[in-house]
Amino acid sequence: PLQHLESVWLFGYGSLIYKADFPYLQCKPACIYGWQRRFWQGSHDHRGTPEAPGRVVTLVAADGARCVGMAYQVTPETFEHLDHREKNGYLRFFTELHWLDGFGQEVGVVYVASADNAAYLGPASEADIAAHIAKSQGPSGTNSDYLLQLAQALRMLSEQDEHVFAIEQALLLQLEQR
Ligand code: BEZ
Repeated sequence: PLQHLESVWLFGYGSLIYKADFPYLQCKPACIYGWQRRFWQGSHDHRGTPEAPGRVVTLVAADGARCVGMAYQVTPETFEHLDHREKNGYLRFFTELHWLDGFGQEVGVVYVASADNAAYLGPASEADIAAHIAKSQGPSGTNSDYLLQLAQALRMLSEQDEHVFAIEQALLLQLEQR
């Protein structure tokens, strides 16, 4: 159980990259292997509503893939806050984090929403995902802002995430044509 550890590494690959609204001891760019970031999870509570869910990222297992994000060293109490923020289908897993500077690794916690959760939406074309995002909003703001902030944060990490950047391009095109 996490409560017995002095500190825990948490790997963020979605909104946690650009929005760390919790105390942490340190943060470091990191990646995990064997996982891909995908806009396949429905958001009933942050970027959409139960009637009109938004689309947010989850991780999908993929051989040979890697997912770049930000790791935060936090105290176990911080997870009480995060478990509230990250409900809606996400479960915690332990995984190996690799520091992006190339030196070393740590075990850390990551939140994954898998295909069997009630809010899961699954794959769609990048254009359809962008159109879905363009019309969605929830208590945390518009779904477009979520996508644009995530894309910007990945650029700051020098990460070429083709899935996220293709959906961002499609969204910007659709917004222009409005
Ligand atoms: C993340 O940024 O890692 C994350 C954010 C919300 C739910 C699950 C994961």
